[in-house]
Amino acid sequence: MTDIKVLSVTSEIYPLIKTGGLADVAGALPLALAKHHVDMRTLIPGYPVVKAALTNPVAVHSFKNLFGAKASLLYGEVAGLKLYVLDAPHLYDRPGNPYVGSDGKDWPDNPQRFAALSRVGADIGKGVLKSFRPNIIQCHDWQAGFVPAYLHYDGGPRPKTIMTVHNLAFQGRAAAALLHDLALPPSSFTVNGVEYFGDISALKSGLQFADVITTVSPTYAKEIREPEAGMGLDGLLEVRKDVLAGILNGVDTQVWDPATDGRIAAPFSSGSVSGRAKSKAALQTRLGLTPNAKAPVLGVISRLSWQKGLDLLLEALPMIMAEGAQVALLGSGEKELETGFMAAMARYPGQVGCVIGYDESLAHLLQAGSDVILVPSRFEPCGLTQLCALRYGAVPLVARVGGLNDTVIDANDMALAAGVATGVQFGPVNGSQFQDALRRTLKLFRQPKIWKKIQANGLKTDVSWLRPAAQYAELYRHVLAK
Ligand code: ADP
Ligand code: GLC
Repeated sequence: MTDIKVLSVTSEIYPLIKTGGLADVAGALPLALAKHHVDMRTLIPGYPVVKAALTNPVAVHSFKNLFGAKASLLYGEVAGLKLYVLDAPHLYDRPGNPYVGSDGKDWPDNPQRFAALSRVGADIGKGVLKSFRPNIIQCHDWQAGFVPAYLHYDGGPRPKTIMTVHNLAFQGRAAAALLHDLALPPSSFTVNGVEYFGDISALKSGLQFADVITTVSPTYAKEIREPEAGMGLDGLLEVRKDVLAGILNGVDTQVWDPATDGRIAAPFSSGSVSGRAKSKAALQTRLGLTPNAKAPVLGVISRLSWQKGLDLLLEALPMIMAEGAQVALLGSGEKELETGFMAAMARYPGQVGCVIGYDESLAHLLQAGSDVILVPSRFEPCGLTQLCALRYGAVPLVARVGGLNDTVIDANDMALAAGVATGVQFGPVNGSQFQDALRRTLKLFRQPKIWKKIQANGLKTDVSWLRPAAQYAELYRHVLAK
């Protein structure tokens, strides 16, 4: 069988640069697809950390003027990933976060920075590299959204394109006046082109022109066709529903393996979770919680943003404290939420422990040491923390939205009777439903036999890339056959 050649265009990739789940997916998918005769290579901006990770980069192409200055394309392999790194210092040679400066504000030239990435993706699609001419380009989120538009307006032979939506909230909007700067033709500024409510939108462009659209769960694929979750794009998504599919994410089961994880206090396997007790104790110590093996620990690992619904957790704290539970949180993001959690820690010493920041090791310890992982998101395209929780024997308590709906089986009476529950779901997403779900969860926690069964069911759940990778491979073959 000949390999299908896929170019994945992404603004982040684990283990090189990550702000959220997109990086995990972009980093895991190429490895999972190799078994399916898919040669997936990745185009990524040459941020300083990415360039530093390349050991023997080879320059494979150069651009005399790419959005304002010369640039080149480097090829290198890191951690089994085949990478095309866009070395354009005028666009990417900036410290820290890929999207925002140290003031927390978006870089003003973000439209150009990611249009350049997309332009180069389109060029690779048209065959500028002798060594790799993709059959398909998979475009991740708005940062790659202009790829299908460039290919459309360029005309001529082109590969198939897939627009993959990880989060509809980020739409890559730019002022209409930038049309020329973004190398888009005047004719593209129409409702059937790149125009979006008087602006330009990179995500809309991708949704408009891609051959196929995917998102990261079947439920989110349905939700985004409705105004409530569609964020202004529901109309277009409804029109394109025949080419819209939802494929769940997996997690990298080698990175997330409690049997070999060096970042937790003691390894454990799905057969015996007794080792979790040591991680629970270590977590309590690390976060300044009162050491108490009996107190349920409710863990959170999250970006702190409106999407994640963690204001509802702040609201629920008095009730949680009254129930004798502890809260262990790792997160960063919006200042108001950061301050709120720091204040809660001061108010409830020994019962609420928070680390504001990004810390992969602590994320692992939280999964291994928490009894429950909370994900009360208002919307969640897929969500990865609940998948890791299942694998680590922490029971997920999740909102019934998006991928959370598709990956957790609620412990309702029938699921308990059938012995299939893996967690707790609640909806609609509001404070009182969340608190009811918390009470229900804590009640289950106090019934060890039932609790162990729920935990065991989670540990048995396949959260790997096995199924999703097969689904992507099938989709690629289907797209190419069209
Ligand atoms: P999103 O991409 O919307 O942030 P996901 O659940 O898909 O949500 O993915 C989040 C990923 O980022 C998970 O791998 C999670 O463990 C990780 N993560 C989130 N916040 C932190 C943090 N503060 N420290 C370490 N890892 C984090
Ligand atoms: C986004 C979503 C999250 C999803 C991740 C990876 O950041 O918010 O739900 O799991 O992308 O697809």
